[in-house]
Amino acid sequence: MNKKIFSGVQPTGNLHLGNYIGAIKNFVDLQNQEGNECVYCVVDLHAITAKQDPIILKNNIRETTATFLASGIDSKKSIIFNQSLVPAHSEGSWILGCIARMGWLNRMTQFKEKAGKDKEKASVGLYIYPVLMTADILLYDATHVPVGEDQKQHLELSRDIAQKFNLDFNAPNFLRAPEPLIQKNFSRIMSLKDGTNKMSKSDPSDLSRVNLTDHKDQIMNKIKKAKTDNDPLPDDDKNLSQRPEVENLLGIYSSLSGQSLKNSINEFSGKNFSEFKEKLADLGYIDLEDDYCKHAENSFDLESIRNSSLKLAYDSMFGAGKNVISRLLPETIQIHDDDNPGFHGQAPEPIHRNLLEFSELIKTNGNIDCGLATDGDADRIGLYNSRGEFI
Ligand code: AMP
Ligand code: TRP
Repeated sequence: MNKKIFSGVQPTGNLHLGNYIGAIKNFVDLQNQEGNECVYCVVDLHAITAKQDPIILKNNIRETTATFLASGIDSKKSIIFNQSLVPAHSEGSWILGCIARMGWLNRMTQFKEKAGKDKEKASVGLYIYPVLMTADILLYDATHVPVGEDQKQHLELSRDIAQKFNLDFNAPNFLRAPEPLIQKNFSRIMSLKDGTNKMSKSDPSDLSRVNLTDHKDQIMNKIKKAKTDNDPLPDDDKNLSQRPEVENLLGIYSSLSGQSLKNSINEFSGKNFSEFKEKLADLGYIDLEDDYCKHAENSFDLESIRNSSLKLAYDSMFGAGKNVISRLLPETIQIHDDDNPGFHGQAPEPIHRNLLEFSELIKTNGNIDCGLATDGDADRIGLYNSRGEFI
C-alpha cells in the first residue's frame, strides 16, 4: 500500500542525534521508498507554545529546514513547509478542539512534564498542543506518522479524536486515524550525561547531546565525557539492565552502524571504553556539515523551496475531495441544521460574500496591496497580492 506520510519537527534550535535517529533518518528512508507521499513540516506554531524571540524563531525555521535538506530530505520528492503558512492547521485545530475531551488531554504526560509544578501558569496553547498536532496530521489524510517514542501518546490521542469525530457525525472513515511509525529499536535516545533522561534540546548542559551542527572535535569531546561506569563493556544484553548509559551508547552505535545491539555487543565485548568511544564518535559525526552550510548560508533559497512545497501542500489539501477543512465544517454545522445540505469543496454563499466584503475593505481602507481572486482553473478562492501570489 502507498503510504501518505506526515511528520513535524519544532524549529526550536539545536537539533540533535536523538532527533536524527528517532525521526529524521526515518523521514529520509520513507521518502526513498517507492510510492510514498511525504509531507515534512517545520511546526512553528507548536514552537510558540513557549515564549520565542521572533528573530531567533525565524532563524531556527531556516536552520531546521537546512537540517532536513542536509539530512537527505529532498524538496523535489517531499513536501517541506512551515506550518504557519497554511492557515488550515489553526482552523482545523479549533474544530478538533471541540471534539477532544478535557479528560483525554489531562492524561498527556508531555504537558505534565513541560508545565511542571505550577500548571495554572502554563499556557492554554501548551495544553491543547496535541490537538494542533492532530489537525496537522488529519488535514493531509496521513496514513502513517513517523515519530520518536515520546510522541506515541499524542498519536493515540489523534486516533481517538478522529474516531470520535467519525462517530459523532455518523461519518465512518471520514477522518483517517493515522498509524504511528515508531522504530522498534533505539526509538528513545538518552542524554549522554544521564541514561534515564532523554536527549533533549532543552537540557541546559550542551554536553548531554550531540548537536547535528557540532564539529568533529566537539563530538569527540562529548562522547569522551559521556557517562559510563567502571565495568568493561558487556558480553550479553542481559548484563545491560542496570547500565542505562552503556545501553544508550551501544544503542546509538547500533543504530548508526545499521546493526543489531547483539552484534555491537559482540564487537566490543570485554573491550575498554576508550576504543569503543573512538569508534562511536566517528559514527556520531553525521556528515551534514558541508551540505548544512550550503543550505544555511545566505544563498539558501528558502523562498523557492517554500513556494514549490507550498504549492504541493495546497494541491494535496485542496485537490479534489481532499479539502478536509471544507469537509469538516459542514459536518460540524449540520448538527445544528439538519436541512443544510452542506457543501463539497466550494465555499457556501455567506462565506464567499464575507470574503468579498473583506477584500473590498482591505482595498479601500488598508495599505495592503491585495485582492480576492480564484486561482484560475480551480474553484479555490483566496487573497492574492498584486503579483498574483496566493497570500
Ligand atoms: P522535537 O524536537 O521535540 O520537535 O522532536 C522531533 C522528533 O524527534 C519527534 O518525532 C520526536 O519524537 C523525536 N525525538 C526527539 N527527541 C528524541 C530522542 N531523545 N530520542 C528519539 N527521538 C527523539
Ligand atoms: N509534537 C511533535 C514534537 O514535539 C512535533 C509535531 C507537531 C508532529 N505536529 C506533528 C509530529 C505532526 C508528527 C506529526 O516532536
